[in-house]
Formats: sequence, structure tokens, C-alpha cells
Amino acid sequence: MSARRTWAEPWKIKMVEPIRMTTRTEREEAARTAGYNTFLLKSDDVYIDLLTDSGTSAMSDHQWAGLMLGDEAYAGSKSFYHLVDAVQAVYGYEELIPTHQGRGAEHILSQILISDGDVIPGNMYFTTTKFHQEYAGGRFVDVIIDEAHEPYSDHPFKGNVDLAKLQAAIDTYGADRIPYISVEANVNMAGGQPMSMANLRAVSELCRRNGILVMLDATRALENAWFIKQREGGYSDRSVAEILLEMCGLTDGATMSSKKDNLVNIGGFLALRDPELARKARALLVAFEGLHTYGGMSGRDMEALARGIREMVDGDDHIAARVGQVEYLGHGLLKAGVPVVRPIGGHGVFLDARAILEHLTQDEFPAQALTAAIYLDSGVRGMERGVVSAGRDLVTGEHHYPKLELVRLTIPRRVYTQAHMDVVMESVVEVYEHREKVGGLRFTYEPEELRFFQARFQPIQPWEF
Ligand code: F0G
Repeated sequence: MSARRTWAEPWKIKMVEPIRMTTRTEREEAARTAGYNTFLLKSDDVYIDLLTDSGTSAMSDHQWAGLMLGDEAYAGSKSFYHLVDAVQAVYGYEELIPTHQGRGAEHILSQILISDGDVIPGNMYFTTTKFHQEYAGGRFVDVIIDEAHEPYSDHPFKGNVDLAKLQAAIDTYGADRIPYISVEANVNMAGGQPMSMANLRAVSELCRRNGILVMLDATRALENAWFIKQREGGYSDRSVAEILLEMCGLTDGATMSSKKDNLVNIGGFLALRDPELARKARALLVAFEGLHTYGGMSGRDMEALARGIREMVDGDDHIAARVGQVEYLGHGLLKAGVPVVRPIGGHGVFLDARAILEHLTQDEFPAQALTAAIYLDSGVRGMERGVVSAGRDLVTGEHHYPKLELVRLTIPRRVYTQAHMDVVMESVVEVYEHREKVGGLRFTYEPEELRFFQARFQPIQPWEF
């Protein structure tokens, strides 16, 4: 493969799902009805759906066959043990606590480890992760390197933890107030940016010395492993499977949204090494998710997941094609002069809405507006990842103003073709060329928690766009 200039997907298409192009008038109506929030659109009104890579993957024939073989026993399902074997083999954690999705795992982990007033450092926040930390009485402290907040820094590992910031957090709050650090592989909110193995090793050593656990958000750890192979000295000849196992080896456990790397539509897990911690987690699992041998999943979900986990590391071709497609879209947009976060991330292309709509202030929600404009233009659905997603400060009630005000075009795995990516490119370029006509938005409804999911907006002034 390495001798060739082009790559192709290591699969062919066996079944197709029709999608429908809408008219501009239909999209205007749909956008108004959805309060200019792409989370509130009906998928039937969407042409190419880049809202998220979460739960949107296409499963393989082998995974679909697994659905038929799922063991639906309430207790001790065969499929659960297949899942345990797969997680042990691919991630290397002994203890498996199955949950309905990632946030189920975050909930259980936060509840067993966090006490009122604790501090949980992390390499940039993720919405649900931070929510559960705060819900358990903790406080999130950002310890990611400064470059992560710079859209045009070409740092190869923008997901890295700043060890000085971590040390400062330990000095300020005391190690006994820090139950664990939550390190996210291929940091979503930074634009799908990886951390290096060297950095993860250093974090692990610092935490070990201070009696702080290291919990990996392994949601996109495979994509991170691919970037380590591409960018970090000494890893180019290693398989992503080996790299992934080495990453996990530096941590005490992981929360996982299997809806991403693991190629399934639903599912997740908390994985741990310490049997005593796992016992505590299982005690809560039965109250919040389900019995310890299914948690939040049916037998067939666990069977498909066990197969997805093995399939994603069955050679490097899958991940090469997955990230290759994202880079194809990203490099196309870069070439057209559209401001996008660099380097191109693992799961999507992130448009710099602040730079594109420079005539709007952050209070006019540029990323929300740009997302709506792209939908109006072509029916391509992206997601706001800016001030709306960041929410308000718990104490002051003011908006958090993140430096990154982004529109995420997230690519589902094994779903769209290169021609779809060309259509997306054309639409983003079209909107970019008419950007001065896109106006600001204001809230008509603002939920208190995780507001971006269900908030509603309207144009401050009618748009000319
Ligand atoms: N951690 C990360 C890094 C995530 O990206 C997500 C979900 C979760 C945890 C929570 O997992 O959705 O299975 O409960 N991210 C989705 C996204 C929603 O679109 O980025 P979940």
C-alpha cells in the first residue's frame, strides 16, 4: 500500500440508502421550523448529513450477521463475553462495564470517583464529560497546550496535555482533590487533534507520582493511534493495533463512546483495571443502566460491537481510508482558501466561523449562523462548536467565550463517497464567497443544560443570504 500514491476504501458497497435533495424554499422552511439549529432538523430534510460521526457509521456484513447471533439472555449473555474478549484483546483493559453510550460511562465514572469540590483536569472539555463531572460535584480544569486553541497552529499534536498546567493544577488544588485526569484521545473540540505517545507517557508518570488516576476518553483513540503512526518518531512501522494497545497501557481505565471508532450505531463502555473500582461501577450500573452483563445494550448490540472493535484494527487500511477521506475534504477546502482548522483532524473538518464571518461578534453566534447558511445553501448539515456549545459559567452566568468558534463537518465512517465530499466542498466555497450576506442570530429559547442540543434562534436582522 505504501508504494502507491492513491488509496481506496477496503470495502465495496452491498446495500444503499436513498437520500433526497431538497429545494431552497423547502430548506428555508425547515431551517425556520428548526429554530436555525441543525440538531432540530428532520433528517429527511437533510441531503448530506455531517452533523456527527456518532452512531452514523455503516456496519459491515459481518457485524450485521452478528446481530442475528446476539444472545438476548438477561444474565450472562454470550455476546457480553465476546465483548469482554474484544475489549481485552484490543484495548487491554480487564474489567468491562457496558453502557448504552459514552455518557453512560462518564456518568458512572464521575459518580464513583468525584466528591464535592474535586477538580478534574482535562485536555479541553467535552460537553457531556464536563457535565457529568460537574453533576457529581467536581470542576473541570483545562490543561491542554495553548496551541490547541489556535486554529492555524500546525503543531502535530494539538491534543497534548501541557504538563506545566497539570503541575500547576496539582500545586493549586492538591493531588488529594484531583481523583483523576480525563485525557481525551484525538480531542474533539480542538478539531479532532491527537496527543503524542510521549505526552501521554509523561502525563501518566506525573499522575502516578501524585497518586492521580489517568482515565482515557478512548472515543476516537484509533484515529489518534493513526496520527501517532504518521507523525511520531519510532511508530511508522508499528500497526495501529499495537499503538492503540500501548496508549491504553499508560492509563488506568477508559470511557468509550463506541458510536465512533467502534463502528456501531449505539453502545459504549467503561473499562477499568482495578477490580475494586469496577465493583463500585457495577453497583451503580445496575441502578442507572442495566445488569452488569448488558448495561445499556441488547445482546445483538454487544455482538455487533465486539465485531466492530476487532474489525477497526484488522489491518491499517480501514483507518487509513477513514482519515484519508476527512483529509480529502479538508485539503480541498484549504486549497480553495476557506479558513479551516489545521492540521485537518481525524473525524471532521472544522471551519473557522470567526474568521469567515468576521463581521459578526461572538454574541451573534457566528458558528451557529454559518452552520445554518451551509444548510440553506445545499442541505449539508454540520454542527456548531463555539459559544453556544460552550454554555454559560456556572457562577457568573455569563457565556463562556471559547477561542475556537467552529463549524464541524463530521464525516460518518464508511457512509459517503468522494463525490459527496466534492458536493460539500462546492457548497462551503459557495457560502464562503457570499459570507458577508450571512447575518447574526439571537436566542428565542435557551435551555439551561447542554443548551446547544435544543436551543432555538432567529436572525437578528433578516439575512440577505
Ligand atoms: N467523549 C467524546 C470525545 C465525544 O465526542 C462524545 C460524543 C462523548 C464522549 C459522549 O459519547 O455521545 O456516546 O454519549 N460525541 C458526539 C459528537 C455526540 O457528535 O461529537 P455519547
